[in-house]
Amino acid sequence: MSDTVILKGTIIHTPTKDQFEYYENSYLVAVDNVIKGIYKELPKEYEKEEVKDYGDKLIMPGMCDMHVHAPQYVYRGLGLDLQLMQWLETYAFPTESRFSDMEYAKNYYEAFADALAKNGTTRAVIFSTIHVPSTGLLMEILEKKRIGGYVGKVNMDTLCPDSLREDSEQSLKDTREWLIEWKDKLSLVKPAITPRFIPTCSTTVLKGLGELVKEFDVPVHSHISEDIGEMEIVRERYPQIDHDGAVYDQFGLLTNHTVMAHFIYPTDEELTLIKERGVTIAHCPQSNGNVAAGIPPIRKMLNMGIKTGLGSDIAGGYSPCIFRAMSEAVYLSKLKWLDTGKEDMFLSIPEAFYLGTKGGGQFFGKVGSFETGYELDALVIDDSSLGTILDELSVIERMERVIHLADDRNIVARYVAGVEA
Ligand code: GUN
Ligand code: FE
Repeated sequence: MSDTVILKGTIIHTPTKDQFEYYENSYLVAVDNVIKGIYKELPKEYEKEEVKDYGDKLIMPGMCDMHVHAPQYVYRGLGLDLQLMQWLETYAFPTESRFSDMEYAKNYYEAFADALAKNGTTRAVIFSTIHVPSTGLLMEILEKKRIGGYVGKVNMDTLCPDSLREDSEQSLKDTREWLIEWKDKLSLVKPAITPRFIPTCSTTVLKGLGELVKEFDVPVHSHISEDIGEMEIVRERYPQIDHDGAVYDQFGLLTNHTVMAHFIYPTDEELTLIKERGVTIAHCPQSNGNVAAGIPPIRKMLNMGIKTGLGSDIAGGYSPCIFRAMSEAVYLSKLKWLDTGKEDMFLSIPEAFYLGTKGGGQFFGKVGSFETGYELDALVIDDSSLGTILDELSVIERMERVIHLADDRNIVARYVAGVEA
């Protein structure tokens, strides 16, 4: 028996980043989690199927959070008057060390997964901590609550507190065993190799992880060229190597299934390398400002055709909602525009929407758009609380307002991989 899902309403998406496409009073049809089309009249073959009629509510693709730290949900909204390296020492490391405790982990991972789901994230690429048991627990919680994507047991064996410092060989052994156990265990949630960042990973660990990427053919997730202080540590450790990208590359960690967060200070050569390797960049505007890291050259990346999505980077960002990332990506790009003497044009609203849906979605397959053949990840948005002049707004203006003003209260239904969740 095939499983047909039909949603009716005002359907909107961005097949390309240049503009919205929308269909009022239309039907979105998916069979066995494959989108068949968007129709003004329901085709005869589906006449007997149930239609979920959402009136004139907006139906949009699910949002993708391309970089988020699950354990940091505990202390979101704290320490945001600190700079990155101070903030890591004061909040991130002490909090993460508590995830050796399964009871503690269960409480906070449940709350984290609920927050993502409620805020419209249907797929995510997620850091856990170094701890294998609680990482497995997080994966099971996400699967149960239907948040698809990748989770990484974190590797760190240097330049970090004793409570989080792994023995190098043990770190690799644990990662290998974790990959064997989890590679095919769940259907929506899979493992990704996750070195924290270059400063906290020895050469032994980076090299060993590169070998695991080859052996298991799994994605990679980390941070790249985020912060001047971070980059100075990397330059000191690898004086012969010009940039973070080349360090990761020499260990085989840049593939077309790698996602790297930030990329605020890329050199031209590093931009070319990232493009050539097919790496996806997770742009995390709220975090970039909060930890005073900087403003990435997002326009330059888009012009080069570098694959790009958005991340909340909880708890560098305090909001788990990717609408905030869309809105703040535009805001930050305007500061960049001013900063570059009006050279790097700021982002448009459809570009920001694209980054938060299809731009990140490509990392998971055919995800983030309602084109035929895509998976059905969808959100239903009730924007009636956002103002009293709704009937004077075009569909595109309604969507624009949702991006800037909506929150979890406006998300009234959520579908992930063809199933309402
Ligand atoms: N670099 C290394 N660890 C982290 C982290 O937890 N958050 C951010 N934003 N950057 C990092
Ligand atoms: Fe991060």
